[in-house]
Amino acid sequence: MLVKTFGCALFGIDAITVTIEVNIDRGINFFLVGLPDSAVKESQQRIEAAITNLGYYYPHKKVVINMAPADIRKEGSAYDLPIAIGIMAASEQVNADRLEQFVIMGELSLDGTLNAIKGTLPIAIKAKQDGFKGLIIPKENAREAAVVEGLEVFGVETIHDVISILNGENTIQPVTIDMADSLHEMVYEFDFSDVKGQENIKRALEIAAAGGHNVILIGPPGSGKTMLAKRMPTILPPLTMAEALETTKIHSVAGLVGRNASLVRTRPFRSPHHTISDAGLVGGGTYPQPGEISLAHNGVLFLDELPEFKRTVLEVMRQPMEDRVVTISRAKMTVDFPASFMMVAAMNPCPCGYYNHPDKECTCKPGMVQQYLNRISGPLMDRIDLHVEVVPVDYKDLSSKSVGESSSTVRERVIKARKVQEERYANFPTIHSNAQMTSQLIQKYCELDEPCRNILKNAMNRLGLSARAYDRILKVSRTIADLDSSENIQTGHLAEAINYRSLDRDNWGA
Ligand SMILES: Nc1ncnc2c1ncn2[C@@H]1O[C@H](COP(=O)(O)OP(=O)(O)O)[C@@H](O)[C@H]1O
Ligand SMILES: [Mg+2]
Repeated sequence: MLVKTFGCALFGIDAITVTIEVNIDRGINFFLVGLPDSAVKESQQRIEAAITNLGYYYPHKKVVINMAPADIRKEGSAYDLPIAIGIMAASEQVNADRLEQFVIMGELSLDGTLNAIKGTLPIAIKAKQDGFKGLIIPKENAREAAVVEGLEVFGVETIHDVISILNGENTIQPVTIDMADSLHEMVYEFDFSDVKGQENIKRALEIAAAGGHNVILIGPPGSGKTMLAKRMPTILPPLTMAEALETTKIHSVAGLVGRNASLVRTRPFRSPHHTISDAGLVGGGTYPQPGEISLAHNGVLFLDELPEFKRTVLEVMRQPMEDRVVTISRAKMTVDFPASFMMVAAMNPCPCGYYNHPDKECTCKPGMVQQYLNRISGPLMDRIDLHVEVVPVDYKDLSSKSVGESSSTVRERVIKARKVQEERYANFPTIHSNAQMTSQLIQKYCELDEPCRNILKNAMNRLGLSARAYDRILKVSRTIADLDSSENIQTGHLAEAINYRSLDRDNWGA
């Protein structure tokens, strides 16, 4: 007898429906065709054990399984379940009438229980698009799939459960979640108010958040750089539904959405170690997997100890940063992973860490401070709008009981400034924030009056700022003006922005 079941293959952050035909005929042996990888090929052993351990029978006949379309590689063990159900239906142990209504995916243990799979959300989206009535998947993945409306999602624990659904026994109900709740519940572990003092640093981070600017924190060990960076997502606007879905899809294919979790509701914070490989950072692998820059999509990528990263690794990040997407090419396919993130970097000012420290002596030889900075590639430095020098707070401030502003208060101001930008760039579909302004847009929206022009000219001369500082200062001034609800950039805005170019000064490290 010939039956068909349906599964899904992952392709980047999307899924493709796969038809699994199972035919059982006289003879012996097991054939699996249609570009399966080794994990799929090994599934026969698991399936046979699972079926017999649950007290059903495994047909010792000629079993032929064909997976279509044949030109996409079928990866992993998540096809165990649709293949097993196909075999049981073809051997008339399961009612095959309703098989065409469901996409079925799950990895089997030898005892017939199911293990969680990757990519549930893209699979659910595809199942709905292709007109399936329902999705049958391991219970731990069900809440993630239930995000898709108009699809009956069944979370199952064993093959028994699947059989009961296919036989229409109504013992298992579809999983539902309340979507209205899910976006409001934005809970972060940390808060801006945990950081004592450092008002000027917090102000700089607020500006970065408001304009989508990349930022680098420069300061000695223990000055609170990591602590501050970790709190960056908490002052960014809440994820929109579209952003939450896209971020969840990426985390889903990477297998990072927790068990029984549904949507990713908080902005991601990713902090890869400086020893990370190219593929780890931007994505890669035989079956392309998202890298850290994609896992940080719609959130923050924190590069701690920036000069310690290999130059080549940071080089591969440049193009995706520009395009806000990574394209990974393989012989037979090209996949895209979104990668729109804010970069927060941190560094010690010099190898010993104490250059510019208020009361500790820097022991580095002359020239070493500049050398240390030069380890960071120029083109990457060019993408960092704000340089913020972090000085450790003294003991008095650290032990003070006064509590600073909470993240939610700061976030309200950020949201307001972002609204101004949304309206300004409404006619520019690829531009969402001041940081993304092109040179033409800078000319259009960052016009300076006479006093402002003078301040900027003086600063460029007096501080010896490099030419690349010029556009960055204008962009940041625009954001400061937006935070101030000011139509025009004023001298105060400009003066503040000039402060955030420490590393461009010709006396840095002198
Ligand atoms: N402004 C601050 N308010 C509260 N705690 C602080 C502050 N600055 C530093 N700390 C404490 O010092 C620790 C070290 O800070 P950290 O962020 O790791 O420094 P860095 O990354 O600059 O080396 C923090 O975990 C925190 O406990
Ligand atoms: Mg640190």
